[in-house]
Amino acid sequence: MKIFVDTAKIEEIRQVKEWGILEGITTNPTLLSQTGKPWKEAALEILREVPDKPVSLEVIATDFEGMLKEARELAKFGDNVVVKIPFTTEGIKAVKVLTAEGIKTNVTLVFSSLQALVAGKIGATYVSPFIGRLDDIAYEGLLVLEEIVHLYEIYGIETEIIAASVRNVDHVRRCALLGVDIATIPFSIIKQMLYHPLTEIGLKRFLEDAKKANISIL
Ligand code: G3P
Repeated sequence: MKIFVDTAKIEEIRQVKEWGILEGITTNPTLLSQTGKPWKEAALEILREVPDKPVSLEVIATDFEGMLKEARELAKFGDNVVVKIPFTTEGIKAVKVLTAEGIKTNVTLVFSSLQALVAGKIGATYVSPFIGRLDDIAYEGLLVLEEIVHLYEIYGIETEIIAASVRNVDHVRRCALLGVDIATIPFSIIKQMLYHPLTEIGLKRFLEDAKKANISIL
């Protein structure tokens, strides 16, 4: 399972990149608004920071023609741009055209396995089911995700599944166990994934014992 970071904050992206585990970035208008920078400046900064990883940038238009125009404009920002298109009837029409033009797409705001099936049929590069937001309305997001993984397997759909709206470390673990292609994870959760109290306690003990045994390697 690839690790994408669900953020538009450059400091967070740099940190995950430094850890050597960054495989892509997803943004949305909410995340861009949280940077405190003009959206275009923030987007271009991200693209410069990671020119070799996919970066999802979302359209704002909701009509077919408007989405196409915005998507073509966003695609000019860099070869690694993936255009995020919401799952609406206008959106799926636009994805079909963009796919034919060779523009990479990420169908977002997906909440059911049938929406994901359609995203696959129209040739989307990625599909983003939102698991946390389903949990929020007392519907198990991971069950929908499991169905999508299953459907994609039985029909040999090549669209990559990005588990989005990931809210905790257990979501990440379960996504990995389901065989999801990608999880896009908020920075705070990536930090939690890298920490284990037993590692900290164990290391403290090893260092104390190294001192007792006068171990000095260099
Ligand atoms: O990238 C979109 C998605 O991950 C949003 O998550 O937490 O706002 O539901 P959330």
